[in-house]
Amino acid sequence: LVDKAIAAANSMRPDELLFSYKGILYPTTVCSPETFKALESFEARRDDVILAGYPKSGTNWLSQILTDLIAISQKKTPGSESGVNAEEEEEPYLEIGDAEKYERMTKLPSPRFVVTHLRPENLPKSIFKSNAKILLLIRNPKDVATSFYHFCNGLPTLPSYETWDDFFTDFMRKKMVWGCYFEYLSEWNKYADKENIMTITYEEVKENPAQGVKNIATFFGIPLTEEQLQLVVERSSFQSMKKNSDKTHGSFGNILFRKGGVSDWKNLFNEDQSKRMDKAFEEHIAGTKLGKKLKY
Ligand code: A3P
Repeated sequence: LVDKAIAAANSMRPDELLFSYKGILYPTTVCSPETFKALESFEARRDDVILAGYPKSGTNWLSQILTDLIAISQKKTPGSESGVNAEEEEEPYLEIGDAEKYERMTKLPSPRFVVTHLRPENLPKSIFKSNAKILLLIRNPKDVATSFYHFCNGLPTLPSYETWDDFFTDFMRKKMVWGCYFEYLSEWNKYADKENIMTITYEEVKENPAQGVKNIATFFGIPLTEEQLQLVVERSSFQSMKKNSDKTHGSFGNILFRKGGVSDWKNLFNEDQSKRMDKAFEEHIAGTKLGKKLKY
């Protein structure tokens, strides 16, 4: 899918790369207004496994962990199949693909694996009505911005930036695909107390991957042996994922698996930018449940 999107982007003008839907920008090569309209009819199931995360917060990493955990819950060996939705080759990102995907998804066996970068108010209502469990992934906004900047300059489907300063201005002005990260956090914060939602930070999984995987498995009710736990941790390490990325992500892998660490923002932000983001964080997020959970 990404390879196709890159090929399409190469023949587009920079101003054609993005479109706006309900006031938020999305990449034209993988999203469309038709798909967003069709998405409203999506029927979530109680046993769907849902991962929500803003772009660049580590969604591909947590997808790997969840895919393996689902395989284990089905008594399969992780890695023996390319993915949970693999048989039918359905793209797990909910809002990415053609408008017919939701019809096809009705035929997928449970548990279906669903990933989304959308804010809760833009998700189909059935997701919350179904009480499906949602893992909400968050990451330090400074590292998200840093990762996003390199991503925009690496991926032809997104507008590139001549300088980090230009990118920073757009990030703070809310001119990002999938919207502004601070707004994303504030909106999801309204759901953070729900029992069927577990919040996890990129930083906590990085610091203690085994504990992170254990917590996720417990939340989704998936029992794990010590051996299975080690296998999931090993397969989801940055080094393993980067090494296998040719197979799992094609040419996209070279752009996606960049540094995989914490605090790379220190190599880009100047003092003024750091203070400006601190101020925005303080104003919009710091006092909220998600703000307190974030490793900022
Ligand atoms: P960096 O650009 O800081 O390296 P997403 O998948 O949401 O697009 O997020 C991408 C970010 O997650 C990138 O961050 C990427 O390197 C990082 N990442 C991907 N796999 C990872 C892993 N196994 N462990 C830690 N970080 C990972």
